[in-house]
Amino acid sequence: MFKILKAEHLAENIILMDVEAKRVAKSCLPGQFIIVRLDEKGERIPLTIADYDREKGTVTIVFQPIGASTYQLADMKAGDSILDFVGPLGRPSELITGDLEEVKKKKILFVAGGVGTAPVYPQVKWLHEHGVDADVIVGAKTKSLIIMEDMMKKVAGNLYITTDDGSYGRNGMVTKVIEDLAAEGKHYDVCVSIGPMIMMKFCCLTTKKLGIPTIVSMNPIMVDGTGMCGACRLTVGDEVKFACVDGPEFDGHKINFDEAMKRQAMYKTEEGRALLRYKEGKTHHGGCGFCGGDK
Ligand code: NAD
Ligand code: FES
Repeated sequence: MFKILKAEHLAENIILMDVEAKRVAKSCLPGQFIIVRLDEKGERIPLTIADYDREKGTVTIVFQPIGASTYQLADMKAGDSILDFVGPLGRPSELITGDLEEVKKKKILFVAGGVGTAPVYPQVKWLHEHGVDADVIVGAKTKSLIIMEDMMKKVAGNLYITTDDGSYGRNGMVTKVIEDLAAEGKHYDVCVSIGPMIMMKFCCLTTKKLGIPTIVSMNPIMVDGTGMCGACRLTVGDEVKFACVDGPEFDGHKINFDEAMKRQAMYKTEEGRALLRYKEGKTHHGGCGFCGGDK
């Protein structure tokens, strides 16, 4: 069992939990995720890692309840325990595993949308601790939905906050800030965009226009997180990939976002899943979960 040490609301419907998970805390890296199962009958819930403390043996998760399982998790309090907390899963961010001296030469821009701010934070923090201060754009619908601002301020080079309604920071969506920064003469070698699918799609369209290579995290399309369900199948360039096994991070300029969003909507119904299984045949799921798909 994995004990919840802290449970707090960061905003309405956005919850942060520190969970005692010594083995995960010891080896996890920014960009990876864990799978939570609350009890014997519970669904698997893949959640990105928002922070970790190797000494205390804790892992921080930040989530927005959207289905029965995440609402059940949201009702748990400090002192309660989770049955399974499996990880770390997925590949760490390539900025973290790449050649640090090369990464230090790059001007990096992170773009975080809403709850996507949580998986951005450990990457920016890791880079800061290794001598790289990246710029960060954080966007939310309105002031009360901006999360982790103080934490982010401590580790970011420049932090640009923006709200869709202009109630805090700049006014407009994150894509407007990317364009404004470019117009102000800022140059970036790489962008990492994490948030809702639609945001990542439009970020990629913007950065493509500006010639900035862009990494995105395809966590939102995961369901079981094991390579078996076929929910996170996506086309990257001309290859079939699975977000949970081959990602979650990919070259955003190569992703077919329209197909991924259409599949995500279809996957929600039994009929849609049956149709996807029929059309995609052997490539529908990621096989054993380690082979990268039945190609
Ligand atoms: P949201 O809908 O409030 O959007 C956040 C910001 O994204 C907006 O303020 C805006 O700046 C930008 N954005 C949204 N639509 C845009 C568009 N069409 N063009 C340009 N910019 C746009 O975000 P939310 O409600 O916090 O998002 C929840 C979603 O985030 C869920 O779908 C969840 O799956 C996803 N999420 C993704 C990750 C990941 O790893 N990619 C991690 C956690 C959560
Ligand atoms: Fe099920 Fe990736 S989430 S195959």
